[in-house]
Amino acid sequence: MFSHLPPYAGDPILSLMEQFQRDERSNKVNLSIGIYTDGRGVVPVLPSVRTASAAVAETGAPYVYLPMEGHAAYRQAVAKLLFGADLPSAEHLAIVQTLGGSGALKVGADLIARFFPQPTIWLPDPTWDNHVGIFEGAGFKTERYPYYDAQTKGLNFNGMLDKLQSLPKGAVVLLHPCCHNPTGVDPTRAQWEQIIAVVEQRGLLPFFDLAYQGFAESLDDDIWPVREAVRRQIPFFLSNSFSKIFSLYSERIGALSVFCPQAGQAANVLGQLKLTVRRNYSSPARNGALLVAHVLNDDKLATQWRAEVEEMRVRVRDMRVKLASQLKSAVPDQDFSFLLRQNGMFGYTGLTSAQVDRLREEFGVYAVGTGRICVAGLNDSNVARVAETMAEVLRG
Ligand code: LMR
Repeated sequence: MFSHLPPYAGDPILSLMEQFQRDERSNKVNLSIGIYTDGRGVVPVLPSVRTASAAVAETGAPYVYLPMEGHAAYRQAVAKLLFGADLPSAEHLAIVQTLGGSGALKVGADLIARFFPQPTIWLPDPTWDNHVGIFEGAGFKTERYPYYDAQTKGLNFNGMLDKLQSLPKGAVVLLHPCCHNPTGVDPTRAQWEQIIAVVEQRGLLPFFDLAYQGFAESLDDDIWPVREAVRRQIPFFLSNSFSKIFSLYSERIGALSVFCPQAGQAANVLGQLKLTVRRNYSSPARNGALLVAHVLNDDKLATQWRAEVEEMRVRVRDMRVKLASQLKSAVPDQDFSFLLRQNGMFGYTGLTSAQVDRLREEFGVYAVGTGRICVAGLNDSNVARVAETMAEVLRG
């Protein structure tokens, strides 16, 4: 029956995680998957979430189904967090709770594929590997627009803008509003202004993917391109995730928002999103939504959580500085300042896949094959060894 099924080659990120867990070396370091660990190398339960968890448990509420669109108080709180003072009315905004950011991408992709047949999405080159899997899995053709410039280890802004300018009206374009995965290279505010202007002039349909809000500059600064799209009345899709910024990875909690400039259209969009959810997994899970809603809807806890996000952001930045300076001491003829210009959890090191293999096999330091490292996996106990081993493979 199943003899024609080929073996699964494994996922370029998740398989590394499995391999890391099997690795018996005590000095192994996991810089592959995008998971934040604190200064002790532990995935934190944020204190705000701990408080919320106790309060949620206290209610003893029964485990009934959530509606297809998710928990109402959660959806309202998330909309406020995302859009702030630019919050569109319900006539313009359709928002559903999703299974993390990936679930939001999938629900959005399915909706687009149903109503805009034979869709194509333009992805940045490079992008998070699973963007390809999710959109192709929903029936999309995937294309690329220039993004990363390996020479400068920065943004190929002209290449990106030229390509966007050449796309047909209605083309779907995936944009990372901040902390680009995998490169950490983000456009400046002035560059974003130009990107959004091109999106508007060409009538493109942005699909913003926001998994790291608050890890570049701040919760409000990092979502500027999305709010600018609201101000300019550009329709868009927005997936967001609370895996990293609430440290709620296994709760699979996120949201999909669709902004509809024409009043009244959001009701039908929301209806079709509900149908999409129903025929995929019926309705979302409850616990993550209750935790996030409890934190965001309580002024004191929300303020505390904002400070916790800031603490994570600052710690990662601190680790960038330490890694860059230790690499510079070990390999003085190379420039590592690019690490300081990159944002968010990831560092795009320029290591080749052979160098990444050597790091893992010889030293037990795990990075993604593209040379991406998770800077959020560094701490004062492992950064010196990581810098030494990276220097070793760089020297050849
Ligand atoms: C990553 O890029 O490492 C994270 O987004 C986790 C994942 O699911 O790949």
